[in-house]
Amino acid sequence: MIIEVPIYMRGVTGRMARRQHLDRSLMHFIKEGGLKTARGDVIMPKPFLIGRDMAKLKPLADEYGLPCGTDLSAAFEDKSPFRVYFEGAITKVHYAGISQAIDAGMNIFSEKPITLTVEEAIDLAKKANAQGVKGGVVQDKRYLPGLKALQHVIHSGMIGEVYHVLLEFGYLVHPDDGTRPDWNSDKAEGGGIVYDMVAHWDYVLESIVGRPVEVSALTGLHIKQRTRGGQPVPTTAEDSVYARFVCEQGAICDSASSWCRRPRKRGLLEIKVQGTKGAAEAYLDRCYFITNERTPKIAWDPDTASRIEFDDGWELIEAPDTPENAFRYQWDKFLKHLICDEENPADLTSGAQGVEASTRTYESAEKNGAPVAIRDMRTVV
Ligand SMILES: NC(=O)c1ccc[n+]([C@@H]2O[C@H](COP(=O)([O-])OP(=O)(O)OC[C@H]3O[C@@H](n4cnc5c(N)ncnc54)[C@H](O)[C@@H]3O)[C@@H](O)[C@H]2O)c1
Repeated sequence: MIIEVPIYMRGVTGRMARRQHLDRSLMHFIKEGGLKTARGDVIMPKPFLIGRDMAKLKPLADEYGLPCGTDLSAAFEDKSPFRVYFEGAITKVHYAGISQAIDAGMNIFSEKPITLTVEEAIDLAKKANAQGVKGGVVQDKRYLPGLKALQHVIHSGMIGEVYHVLLEFGYLVHPDDGTRPDWNSDKAEGGGIVYDMVAHWDYVLESIVGRPVEVSALTGLHIKQRTRGGQPVPTTAEDSVYARFVCEQGAICDSASSWCRRPRKRGLLEIKVQGTKGAAEAYLDRCYFITNERTPKIAWDPDTASRIEFDDGWELIEAPDTPENAFRYQWDKFLKHLICDEENPADLTSGAQGVEASTRTYESAEKNGAPVAIRDMRTVV
C-alpha cells in the first residue's frame, strides 16, 4: 500500500530547508519511489512549499514540480491524519508557526532549536501531547559517522567509564564572506552560537555520556563588526561559547564553540573522550580509539617527549550502520515513527531539553560562569 504524507514546509528558500530537507531528503525519497516500511508499505512524501514571497517561492516550487502557497490554508482543507508541518524558517518565528500547526492537528518536524525560550518549547511539547500529534526535531549530529563510531566505542564498553570529554567546534566565519545568514550575528533576530550549538551538544552528550545536568559558561563576541550588503554593521550576538557541562553519570565536558576558530588537521568538530580503559577522538567523519595497553609509557622529559609517535596505537573505528546523510536518515526515522510508531528519540521533549540547556548556558554566562542546574524536561513536559 502507498501511504501519502503531505508535508507543509516553511523556510525552503533558506539554506537548511532547501538543501538538506527538501533536496537531499524528501526529493531523494520521491526519486527512489518512496520509503519502504517493515510491513512492506511505501511512504510517499508530498511536499507543499510555504513562504512569504511568491516571487521567490514559485520558481523554486516549479523547479521541483511542487505546489506552493503563502499560508497553511491548503493544510486546513487537507484531511490526512498524517499531515506534517515542517519548520525550517529562522528560529524566532518557530513558536508561532508550530503552534498554529499543532492547533490545526498537524504533526510536527522542526529544525533546531525548536524555539528561543524554554517556556515556548515546553508549551509546544505539551500542546502536541494534548492534541495527540507526533513531533520531531532535527538532531542530525547524532548520526554523523564519527559520532556514531564514538557511540559504539562508549556503549560497547571498550573505553570503560568515561570521565572527561573535550569538545571543540567551529571555524572562522570571515566578517565579509556571507557564508552564514546575517540573522546569526544579530541578537534581536534570534542569533547567537549558544542557541545554535548548545542545542546540538545537549543531545550529543546525552547520546555518549548522559544528559548534561549542570553548566558553567562564558560567552564571547570577538568579531564586533561584519559586512552586510557592502556596509559595516555592528554584531550583537555572541560568536563563541566556552562551557563546562557536568553530565548525568558524572563525566565532565569542557567545550569551546566558536565562529572565530581556525581548524587545523581535524576539521570543524573534535571530541576527545577519556575513559578508564582507553580514549577516543571523534571528528565529523571518523573516530580513533586507543587502549591503555597501547598508550605509550611517558616519562616527563621535554627533550625527548616530542620524539614519541603519539599517533601510533590509535585504531580507526568503523561505526556499524552509518547513514549516508544524517538529515535524510532523520526524515526516514521520523516518517516511520509517524506511520509505523517506530521509536523516535528526537521528539519535541528532547527538543525542549536542548532549549533548556541553551537557556541555562546563557544564565550561567550572565552570572560570570557560575554553575547553573539544567532541568530534566521529561519531568516538566
Ligand atoms: N541542523 C543544523 O545543523 C542547522 C544548521 C543551521 C541552521 N539550522 C536551523 O535551521 C533554521 C533555519 O536556518 P537557516 O540557516 O536555513 O536560515 P536561512 O536564513 O538560510 O533561512 C531562513 C528561512 O526563513 C525564512 N524567514 C525569515 N524570516 C521569516 C519570517 N519572519 N517569517 C517566515 N519566514 C521567515 C527565510 O525566507 C528563509 O526561507 C534555524 O532554526 C536554524 O537554527 C540548523
